Amino acid sequence: MKISRINSSGVYGQTHKQIAPKDPVSFGIYVRGEESASRKFQHKYTSWFFRDLATLDIAVNYLEKTFPKGTTILDYACSNGQEALSLNMMFKDRNKYLIQCYDTDEKSIEDAKRGEYNVATEIFGEEFLLYNNDATGKQQKELANKFEQFFDKSGDIFDHHLSTKKFKVKDSLKDNINFEQGDIKNVDSAACGQKVGAIFFRNAFYHMLERAETMGYKCTGEGKTKIKDVIDKAYTRLEPGGIFVMGNCLEDSIFRANSAAVPESHLATTVLRDCRVSILKKTPIQEMLEGRGFTPIGYSTVNDDFAVPTVWKKPFKGEIKKTAPLKNKAAV
Ligand SMILES: C[S@@+](CC[C@H](N)C(=O)[O-])C[C@H]1O[C@@H](n2cnc3c(N)ncnc32)[C@H](O)[C@@H]1O
Repeated sequence: MKISRINSSGVYGQTHKQIAPKDPVSFGIYVRGEESASRKFQHKYTSWFFRDLATLDIAVNYLEKTFPKGTTILDYACSNGQEALSLNMMFKDRNKYLIQCYDTDEKSIEDAKRGEYNVATEIFGEEFLLYNNDATGKQQKELANKFEQFFDKSGDIFDHHLSTKKFKVKDSLKDNINFEQGDIKNVDSAACGQKVGAIFFRNAFYHMLERAETMGYKCTGEGKTKIKDVIDKAYTRLEPGGIFVMGNCLEDSIFRANSAAVPESHLATTVLRDCRVSILKKTPIQEMLEGRGFTPIGYSTVNDDFAVPTVWKKPFKGEIKKTAPLKNKAAV
């Protein structure tokens, strides 16, 4: 079994650079348990196994060496469960952490609980199994082995466009995972409100913004207030040293800008510069995370030359920078 090297737009064989001018379009064939291929171009709820492997790798290694058994991980925007299941396949000790997953979409949570996934076969040839744009060689084999270890083939689906196989996750991979409907705006109180080692909210920030905002150079207004609130609450909810993990998709993390409307000095070097959109050197979300006290400790490479910070650490107690005390005017 092979894991395909399909990029995030679902187009086999192209690089991020080549597809950049287009909007990212994700196939949703792994999204719904029973739905027909007619929904495959809806990407709102899309996720896939081992998505942005570099980020997952950094997060998993960091958590394993930092937090003890019994620590809780919150996985927001969990979609149909692929993210949490991928994490669990990657942890050396699968039962070390409790992974509490939330998504606002009721249907996604139902599907996550059912744990059945469709995998396209015919359209890309018999051997393709999963989307994965950044795993290579040895990693591909390891991921495919893990998938085979934890999933049972449960049937075939045929429709007008492509044939897919169904796989069902084994119970042993779900023992420490719980799925529930929930919104990141309640991240301060969900799951009893105890401190957690990590909060994942990948490729979903843009759901909180108007499209105009994701395309604009300034994130202002209601969207900014909502995102700032989430960042504040996440910071408070995390243990010292805990991590906030975000996505690397264009709308979520990089923040596009209309090239014509943005001063040259705010734009990153070459990425996407040959089209109407450009990439900001620092995005409003990055500024908000840094402003709250997070430090980036993990990056995901988009293109060959552009690294997006995706893993953000809350400082340990001893690492918090002390700001100089304000001088009391009366005492001067
Ligand atoms: C594109 S999917 C990303 C799924 C997964 N995190 C990934 O990166 O592959 C976005 C998901 O975010 C969910 N979502 C949107 N706003 C949310 C919110 N405020 N709280 C929790 N989930 C949310 C959507 O229902 C959808 O399933």
